[in-house]
Order: sequence, then structure tokens, then C-alpha cells
Amino acid sequence: MCGIVGYVGSVRERSDAGDLDGEYCALDVVIEGLRRLEYRGYDSAGVAVVADGTVQSRKKAGKLANLIAELEEHPLPSTLTGIGHTRWATHGGPTDANAHPHLADEGRLAVIHNGIIENYAELKQELLAKGVKFASETDTEVAAALIGDLYRGAADGDITKAMQLAAQRLEGAFTLLAVHAEQPGVVVAARRNSPLVVGLGDGENFLGSDVSGFIDHTRRAVELGQDQIVTITPDSFAITDFYGRPAQGKEFEVSWDAASAEKGGFPSFMEKEIHDQPAAVHDTLLGRSDPRGRLILDELRIDPAELKQVNKIIVLACGTAAYAGMVAKYAIENWCRIPTEVELAHEFRYRDPIVDKNTLVVSISQSGETMDTLMAVRYAREQGAKTVSICNTNGSTIPRESDAVLYTHAGPEIAVASTKAFLAQITAAYLLGLYLAQLRGNIFSGQIKDVLADLNKIPEKIQTVLDTTGPLRELARSMKDEKSVLFLGRNVGYPVALEGALKLKEIAYLHAEGFAAGELKHGPIALIDAGQPVFVVVPSPRGRDSLHSKVVSNIQEVRARGARTLVIAEEGDEAVREYAEHVVYVPETPPLLMPLLTTVPLQIFAAELAAAKGFDVDQPRNLAKSVTVE
Ligand code: F6R
Repeated sequence: MCGIVGYVGSVRERSDAGDLDGEYCALDVVIEGLRRLEYRGYDSAGVAVVADGTVQSRKKAGKLANLIAELEEHPLPSTLTGIGHTRWATHGGPTDANAHPHLADEGRLAVIHNGIIENYAELKQELLAKGVKFASETDTEVAAALIGDLYRGAADGDITKAMQLAAQRLEGAFTLLAVHAEQPGVVVAARRNSPLVVGLGDGENFLGSDVSGFIDHTRRAVELGQDQIVTITPDSFAITDFYGRPAQGKEFEVSWDAASAEKGGFPSFMEKEIHDQPAAVHDTLLGRSDPRGRLILDELRIDPAELKQVNKIIVLACGTAAYAGMVAKYAIENWCRIPTEVELAHEFRYRDPIVDKNTLVVSISQSGETMDTLMAVRYAREQGAKTVSICNTNGSTIPRESDAVLYTHAGPEIAVASTKAFLAQITAAYLLGLYLAQLRGNIFSGQIKDVLADLNKIPEKIQTVLDTTGPLRELARSMKDEKSVLFLGRNVGYPVALEGALKLKEIAYLHAEGFAAGELKHGPIALIDAGQPVFVVVPSPRGRDSLHSKVVSNIQEVRARGARTLVIAEEGDEAVREYAEHVVYVPETPPLLMPLLTTVPLQIFAAELAAAKGFDVDQPRNLAKSVTVE
């Protein structure tokens, strides 16, 4: 969950010299990388550089800005070897002492870490018995002490060897980076179950939790495998396994540039990403069908004969991605007639699910690193299931460990609250459903062609929603002092209601709940009091007519009890107008595809309301973008 950057260079003169000390140095690169990775965690930040036979570090609780202020007050020397960390706390609270780097070997070794070391208590006892002293409550300091101990002992002053030996003893999930005072121009890293990418420069090399850590400098990258060690110098990188045996990474070219990770003139990344949605859906559809309307999912490398045998689908995901999974269930069951379950990955893993070789497990994850989802996918594979990953992050762990992947092409999502990834996940799930239906002959090819044509019109329709948000934003601002907002929906509108509530909780810190509209009378209706705001996602009147009229009845029920009804409906649906205090109309679209439009006003509502409350929309409290712990 933390962000990690490492750098080794050999030249000081460059046109993009940073401004920390007027000269291009490791610190500039590291701080810039941390700025881009801060979405991964922002409880504290720290850096270490190797200078004149010493390791020097600064670290500070709170956001990166606090560390930068500290560096201005207590500057570090300008050098060409450095590491940096932005933290999301697991062991020990977000204090200066618990911030990374952690030092060992009498201050000559600095270590940063992402993940959790599960056997740290046992290792700590061992090290305490040897007289090692600890200054923090973290598992990372134990790893640092272990590397330091091995460096002086069995590794005989070789930092790569010390890292290999330490990694053999560590259990859990970790990306560890280390620098040593006696080895300037070297950064060594270990990776198990936690992300790490190498960036290849000219006379300089980089390490990052993901490519945004070094995207300002290079687009050439190497993806590391599980249980690997990498040592970078200005002119080389060498990969081994934990036992020192040479290993290979996979080189790739990053397809997006630094500009696409910037805010593009919007007040927040979240606003930018909401506005990126027409492109996210468009790009996810791109190149995945031929002009005759046949799906071509070349990347789905599972034998079609095996896909035809599938008799059950389980969709695994967490949070927003799980709501995309709920939409997927409606679509897949409708088109493919395959029983489809959706389960939170962390619940699936720890019961005794019924999974076999005829089960297709579809995981959905923006980051591709969510530990709960990864563990569930691994478990499903062990049970013999076929696994497909719907993922937004190239080279991440979940797609690598799945039998096949369908990438969403939403581009980097920086804001912690997911928006464009959600619409792209739903789009990819529709493609998967249509592909399975095509393969199994469940629906006529003409029907598939029609759905694809409807999907191709969605980006333009999202744009229409985005272009007409004035009154909705005004409504959101006027509601900034509300204490609670409820959301109702039916069928595919139900996950949309859940997502609307989640967005409001996570960025506006406002009590919000989503319900299946039919469930209201079974309890939640007791919550309705005079003035209670209730959003209702109304299905198309052109769909199953009973659904529309049932939801209109639900609006009347809450309104009769004093609720303020805020309605999202399809253009031309005049029936809702007389029961709604505020209506947001979205363009006509087939009922099953509606979530791609009805979600958008709810995202905007949450972003506007949170901004009106003065909150940091991109980095809500207590959250991190990538949840790499269970
Ligand atoms: C909410 C949100 C989270 C993620 C969840 C899964 O806005 O972003 O609920 O959807 O943590 O993350 P990924 O998709 O990276 O597996």
C-alpha cells in the first residue's frame, strides 16, 4: 500500500534539474516519484541518500508536504543514490519514528518497505537476543535489522547477498529497498507478493511501486516476478531469485506519459478522472470487435473448448470493483445463462467455496494488487478453477497470476476513490459476457452486434451527462451540511445505488447507504424522516415495465414519509417528475447498459459535496489507493 522509489544516477547536469537545491540529484528524482505515488499512502514520508560514505535520512509523519518542509529546514547533500517512501500505516501508528526509512548497521543501512512481514515478532526476539535495539514499532525495522545483521555476517559486506539471505527468512508480503553507506551507486530490492518495477534510463536506473514513480524520466520498464531480487547501478540491473540464481524480468514500454497522470486543468484528480470516462469506455471497447460485430478477445487465452464447459461463474472483487461485479452478474446471466455469483474476495477466501475445473473465476481489480483479491484468485486456482482477471494495471500481480486477462484501458487512476476504472470494469465485463455468449451460441450474432453498437454510443452519452451537471452541482453544494443520504435502486440500478453511497462515504465522510429499492419495506423505510434526502436510480420505462412502475411506487412511499426525493431517470421519463424534488436525466440507453450513465451523476454529486465541505477529494482520510494488505 505504500509508495516506493529508488534511484541511482551518474550525471549531475540535466535540463530537468530539480529545484530542491538547484542541482539535479537523487533527491529530486525521489521526491518527484513520491509525489506521483502519494496516492498509495500518505500517513508519512521519508527519504535516504548515500553521501560521502554515510547514509543520511529525513522522515516525517503526515503528507509529503511535511517532509519537503523538513528537507528545506534540514537539507540533505546532493548525491546520486537515494530511496524514498510514502507510507500507509500497518504496524505502528503514523508517527515520525514509525515512518520509513528505518536504519540499521549503526546507521549505515537504510531500508524502506511495502507490505507486512508476518514473522517479524519471532525475528525481533532473535535480534533482541543479539543485542539489537529498536526505535520503532514497525515490522520494517526488524527487516532492516535482519539485513544489517546479515550484511555484517554471512553476506560478508555484500548488500545484494544480505538482501537475498534476509528475503529467504521473511514471511508475508514485501517490497524492500535498501542502500548502504559502503556501497554508493547501488540500490537493492526484494519483492514477494508486493509490487515493484524497474525503470531503465541512460546512465541512471530507477525502482518504483509502479511506473508513475519514474515516468518523468523513462518509459522503459522491467516487470519483476515473484520472489526476486534486483540490484540497480547507474549502468546495470541484475535480477536473481532469493537464492542468488540469475532470473529474468519482463521488459515493456509504458504506454502512457507523465502528462496523463496530471490533473489536466481540473481541480482534483477525481474530477479529471470523472471527465476521462468517455475515453475510458471508448478505449476499453477499442479493437475488441470486428466490423461484422464479432467479439475478438485475443488476450483471453483460455481454450474455447474449456470456456464452453464452464457451468458456474464466480466474480471476485472488493469495494467499487465488487459493485462492477454485481452489474456483470446481471449481464452475464442475461446473455450467457450461466449461473453467476459475486462475492467479496475476502469473504470467499475464508469459507469453503465450491469451485472446480468447470468454474470460471473472474476477478475485477483496478490496481491488480489488492491482496484480498489476489489471495482469493490464488485459492481458486489451487481448487482447479479457470481464472480471468479484469484489470487496469499492466504488469500487476493479479493478471500475472491469472490464466487470462482482459485489461481495461482507463489509464492511470490517481484519485483514491475509483471512478473511471469502475465504468471501464463494467464495460470489460459486458465484453466478457458477450464473448462467452458468442462462444456458447447463447444469443444470435445480430443481437451481439446490436449491443456492441449500443456500447459504442455510450462515450458520447456520458459526455452529454458531463456537459449538463450545473444544477446537480448546485444541489450538492446546498447539501453540504446533511447528516445522511440514502440511495435506492433495483436490478442493475442496485449496484449503482451502492456505489453512489460508497463515493459519498469515502470522500465526504457522510453517512450514506444504498438499498435494493424492494428491500425498503423490510426495514430501512423506518429511517425515513422529514427532509431525509433519498437518491433513487430509476430503471428505463422501456425495460421490464413492472420494474419501472415498482420503483416509481418506491419513490412515492418515501416521499409520503417526508423524504426529499432526488431522482436519476432516463430522458423522456415524465412519470417521475411529479414525485421528485430534483431530477437528473440521462440519455436513453438499453436497460442493462444504464449503469454506465446513471453512475456518473452520483460521482459528480459526491465530488462536489466533498469539495464544498473543504475535504481533499483525492486523498480521503484513512484510505489508500492500493490495498496490498489482507
Ligand atoms: C472505492 C475504491 C475501492 C476499490 C477497492 C478495490 O472508490 O476505490 O473500494 O474499488 O479497494 O481496489 P482494486 O480495484 O484496485 O482491486
